[in-house]
Order: sequence, then C-alpha cells, then structure tokens
Amino acid sequence: MNELSVRAAAAGDYDEVRALFAGAMMFDSSPTELGRRMFEPERTLVVADGPDIVGTTQALTGELSVPGALVPAAHVTGVGVKATHRRRGIMSELITRQLREVPEAIAVLWASESGIYGRFGYGAAAYGMSYEIDLHRVGPPNVRTRPGEVSELPADGAVKELAPLLRALQERRPGISGRSDLQWQQRLEDKPDDRGGKTARQILVHRDESGAVDGYALWRGKMHWIATGPANEVHLEELVAIDPAAYRALWQHLLTLDLAGTLEFGFAAVDEPLQQLITTPTALNRRLNESLWLRVTDVPRALEQRRYAVAVDLVLDVTDELIPANTGRFRLTAGETVRCELTDAPADLSLSIAELGATYLGGRHLAEFATTGRVTEHTPGALRQAGAAFSWPVAPVSLEIF
Ligand SMILES: CC(C)(COP(=O)(O)OP(=O)(O)OC[C@H]1O[C@@H](n2cnc3c(N)ncnc32)[C@H](O)[C@@H]1OP(=O)(O)O)[C@@H](O)C(=O)NCCC(=O)NCCS
Repeated sequence: MNELSVRAAAAGDYDEVRALFAGAMMFDSSPTELGRRMFEPERTLVVADGPDIVGTTQALTGELSVPGALVPAAHVTGVGVKATHRRRGIMSELITRQLREVPEAIAVLWASESGIYGRFGYGAAAYGMSYEIDLHRVGPPNVRTRPGEVSELPADGAVKELAPLLRALQERRPGISGRSDLQWQQRLEDKPDDRGGKTARQILVHRDESGAVDGYALWRGKMHWIATGPANEVHLEELVAIDPAAYRALWQHLLTLDLAGTLEFGFAAVDEPLQQLITTPTALNRRLNESLWLRVTDVPRALEQRRYAVAVDLVLDVTDELIPANTGRFRLTAGETVRCELTDAPADLSLSIAELGATYLGGRHLAEFATTGRVTEHTPGALRQAGAAFSWPVAPVSLEIF
C-alpha cells in the first residue's frame, strides 16, 4: 500500500482514532473519559499517512450468545477512513488484517451500509425489526396485570438488578452481546445534550412475587401535539424480560401511556412475542433490517463451539478467500459431543465462508442460499439435515448497535 503503513494503535491514539471515526460517520463527538477507558489500543488497527491517522478499525472484546452457548466474539466497530483517502483500499487492508489476527473464532459487526462487508466473507446472521407502532390502532394488549407490578428504578445502582436479566436472556436467545461494567455504564449514561428533545431515560422494572426484578424496559418520551390533539412519542430503547408475566406487563404499560400516539422500537426480534399479544400486528408498522453480520475466522473452532438442534454428520467443503486455513473439507459431527475436523471424505455440501457466517446464529437456513447457487448439495438430503441442525428455535437478535 503506497507510502501508507498499518500498525496497532497506542493508548495515546485514542483522541485521533475517535475523531477520525466521528468525522467519517458525521457525528460530533468529543473524546470522553469513559470512551478512553473502554478503548482497546492493542485491538485497534490504524493506517498512518505520515504523522496522520487516516483509517481505523477496532475489535472490542466481548461474549456473544450463539445457539446453545456463550462464546468470545470480536465485536468490530469504529471502521472509518478519512474522506480524503477513500477508495484506495485502506478499509480492505484493515479488515483483512483484522480478520486474520483476531484470536476469536467469530467476528461480528453492525454495518452502516449493507453493501460493505459481504466481500470480506461476512454474512448477515441476524435480522432485526424496527417498529413504529400506531398506538391508536394497535389497541391495548389482551393481558391482565396487577396494579403496582411495574415501577420505576433509579439509574444509580440499577446495573446490579438489570445485568442478571441480560445474562439470562443470553441463555435463551442467540445474537445477544454481553456487557462489561463499563459497557453498562455507557448504556445507562444519559447526558442532557444527547437526548435530542426527549425526556430523561426512564428505567421501568417488573418484579415477581418475591420482589426480584424479572423484566426491565429503558425508554424516553417526547411531547408532540398535532392538530387533532396529543400524539406523544414513546421511544423504547431496550426491553428484556425473562418471565412471560414481566414481558406482558412491561408492554402493556408502554402501549397504554396517556397522550401517546406512537411507540418506536428499533431492536425487535423477527419472532418478537409482542406480535402474539396484540390484535392488530399491522399497526406495529414493521420494517425488516439486517442487524448483526457475522464472519467465521476459524471454521473448526467456530463450528465446535455452538450447539445443533438435531444430530448431524456432514462434510462441508468451505472456501475462504482471505483466510487460507478455512478452505478445505471439514467433517462436522454433532450428537452428545461436537467435532469438526479436516477430512479427505467427499463433500455433502459446498459453500463459502459467508454462508457459514449467515447461518451460524440459527436464524437463516442454508437452503435459502442453495436457491441462488451459493450452497451446493452433493448428497441428496444433506441440505435438509444441515438446515435442521443449524437452525435454532429462537431467532437471533442484537439489542444495540456497537
Ligand atoms: C466505508 C469506508 C470505511 C470504506 O473505506 P475505503 O478505504 O474507501 O474502502 P476500500 O477502498 O477498501 O473499498 C473496498 C471496496 O468496498 C467498496 N465500498 C466502500 N465503501 C462502500 C460503501 N459504503 N458501500 C458499498 N461499497 C463500499 C468500494 O467501492 C470497494 O469496492 P471495489 O473493490 O469493488 O472497488 C469509508 O468510506 C468510510 O469511512 N465511510 C464512512 C464511515 C462508514 O460508513 N464506516 C463503516 C462503519 S460500519
């Protein structure tokens, strides 16, 4: 790459890395003390043009829920190239090197544009739904709740009551990233300058009969009046409930707030249970988005660390243009234990690393890719067997953009 050089960042690069990414994404951002503490310089790559940083990518350390397990996943973020240096291959150099170097067997990210990451072997592994709920049409959910079931929780000290619920959700649903103490602190930060005219964040909790929190919702309101009267906006940021009664009560509360006209929520699952509680699902105004993109960086390790819905014994012929060790025929056997190793046996299915990534969380089916020739079935029945084994009863969802 001409005179440009790639290197790992140093702790002192934080301000410049932050400024570069903020500039590329066009958000105004000053470095923060919390951001500085969360910065992982040794996991950040930068491209320097003389003394200036002109491109960066970061991999954050974190755990992701995958079918039947919780595994380390490189959480890729902060991908940015200075506008003056675009389309010279800087991002390609950074992403390729990052994928070859991360120690985790999978990497995940949210893409600003869905056209960017497929070329690097990422596959869209989780879809998310955005709701813009018409509260006048949706009607109250058909559920009964006890008065006082839902209450407010002050932000101070909230983490110790909320964090166990997120961990419990990780055991139930793939695609959920864990949060360190610092990440929780960041999640619950509520600077007035960042509210965009909305109210302060409110933390709603539901408690079971013993008083333990078994569900929470983070939301804000925004006053809005139209010619016909009140049309306030409810902005739901996150709702986590591990008990059906908690889930129903929190939604019931949010969908029936006085003066409200719409509820916006950007992180619903494709199989979001709310769809069962209301009589008019079209009033949810659902929009499907790609959320988590996933890249398998180490085929045997990645396939061994997740679980399978049914027993499977298949040879997968995988191609990977960026990571040579991933190209080859791998025998996957899953029953009581899971094994995945290189083999000389003939392939039952062939596919590229991107299809493996797209189906890794159990939300998409290999057959979907067979219809476009991206997966080829060599042994009749192999596609059905692999489809049954790779899929998972609960759809993956990612709860926040990182
Ligand atoms: C997106 C971005 C990182 C690309 O950096 P770059 O150094 O210009 O990318 P490269 O030169 O390596 O491009 C590699 C390929 O990706 C394509 N590409 C780049 N940006 C793209 C985009 N936004 N959408 C679709 N394709 C894109 C290029 O056209 C090129 O394709 P080609 O090889 O067929 O010519 C940079 O433009 C940027 O910082 N954009 C704003 C911030 C952003 O969107 N970051 C991503 C956050 S997830």
